[in-house]
Amino acid sequence: AAIKKYQFDIQVKNVSRLCHAKPIVTVNGRFPGPTIYVREGDRVLVNVTNHAQYNMSIHWHGLKQYRNGWADGPAYITQCPIQTGSSYTYDFNVTGQRGTLWWHAHILWLRATVYGAIVIMPNQGTPFPFPQPNMEVEILLGEWWHSDVEEVVKEGTNMGLPPNMSDAHTINGKPGPLFPCSEKHTFVMEVELGKTYLLRIINSALNDELFFAIAGHNMTVVEVDAVYTKPFTTSAILIAPGQTTNVLVQANQIPGRYFMATRPFMDAPLSIDNRTATAILQYKGIPNTVLPTLPQLPLSNDTEFALSYNKKLRSLNSPKYPANVPLKVDRNLFYTIGFGKNSCPTCLDGTKLLASLNNISFAMPQTALLQAHFFNIKGVYRADFPDKPPTPFNYTGAPLTANLGTATGTRVSKIAFNSTVELVLQDTNLLTVESHPFHLHGYNFFVVGTGIGNFDPAKDPAKYNLVDPMERNTVGVPTGGWTAIRFKADNPGVWFMHCHLELHTSWGLKTAFVVEDGPGQDQSVLPPPKDLPPC
Ligand code: C2O
Repeated sequence: AAIKKYQFDIQVKNVSRLCHAKPIVTVNGRFPGPTIYVREGDRVLVNVTNHAQYNMSIHWHGLKQYRNGWADGPAYITQCPIQTGSSYTYDFNVTGQRGTLWWHAHILWLRATVYGAIVIMPNQGTPFPFPQPNMEVEILLGEWWHSDVEEVVKEGTNMGLPPNMSDAHTINGKPGPLFPCSEKHTFVMEVELGKTYLLRIINSALNDELFFAIAGHNMTVVEVDAVYTKPFTTSAILIAPGQTTNVLVQANQIPGRYFMATRPFMDAPLSIDNRTATAILQYKGIPNTVLPTLPQLPLSNDTEFALSYNKKLRSLNSPKYPANVPLKVDRNLFYTIGFGKNSCPTCLDGTKLLASLNNISFAMPQTALLQAHFFNIKGVYRADFPDKPPTPFNYTGAPLTANLGTATGTRVSKIAFNSTVELVLQDTNLLTVESHPFHLHGYNFFVVGTGIGNFDPAKDPAKYNLVDPMERNTVGVPTGGWTAIRFKADNPGVWFMHCHLELHTSWGLKTAFVVEDGPGQDQSVLPPPKDLPPC
């Protein structure tokens, strides 16, 4: 194992897209930011120095950070922000994980432009459990706004209405030639006939689940969220914000130019969104004048495709990479995803949207929860988050527009060390209908079941997949349906869990787990580093 050092300078830089230039927050002046290349077992030191006028914190999405939440990054959950003019070194080990993950700002909406890939190569001498590619390419899907992103947040949180959609989607920061002034902002991937490519695809968009396809070429999915899958071939993938997908692509078609394209899956009936971003897969020797062909992407409301695609995702579950699914459950949690409105005298229409779990909309604290937990500081959070919703109702029945008593509070759930947890996330028809990609920090979990309608505790668990369910860190809860996950609480600390649609997080669709220390010497949260930013 090696020590890998990176310097991240947070700087504002003028970047032009879609015929306009605007200042954006970047790492080292780059957009998207630099890739972190490491090998399984490495220790990574990333010194972040903040030269921008915004507070900053960086999250290493999907890295487990065993006993080491101090390096996890979500602002006010595991650390206070890195202030302008200050530095903090994220110091962590990459243990027992290999594949594609990513990093992003975890404060306000700054991850709109502050993000990059993390590539973890397997141990020296350990091959991939699939045909070795000739080349690897990172594909980061994102969004671009004309306006200042922090203004967009204000629109979204100070009114009872959603904010403006982004003005474009992007592939490696570029919208592609279907957008105005974007000919030169087009990502081109050059391929050679007969070669195999590993695409490391990351959805870093703020608010959109995305389809991605390549004209004329199938993709073989081999890994999601840095966990190997049973390989399967598909013409399009579906990827939610926070998720990663590795696919193999063979350059085996008539040499030419082919569009890669991405467009949102928005199953909420109100949204129509056709901002297709494109990049070009170009065979070596083909001139730039050849017109590329567009791939067929599923329609933005193709729920059938989404359901059947997600069903195909299975852990590889080989002797070398077993799926250790917890078979017995110590703690059953059932969280409903709801929305409410509160009155807000300073807001435009006098109301403010809130999103909630079990009718609780999470209020951000001013001291980081991990510090409060470690140093036993009272009054920062309450560890009384309910295991069930206050009153059961027909969750997916006729939409109720009434505010069913959404409360705000910094409330978390305490989990005993090494206990196995089952969490059922149940979508509801309160006010709005949309699928939600939930992300848990500090863990991977197994997606043991999912379905449409109300979860039935008498019947549904019998249908769980406890053999080779997908293990991952971010999972979609389908519109008007539920998803059940299981994990073993073997990583002590405070771990954030939230919807990875940034808008919903802003509305309060988040909570945290406080996993208690174990009895063993090496089963407790490590002491904080000396340079941890003060609150
Ligand atoms: Cu990728 Cu808490 O986020």
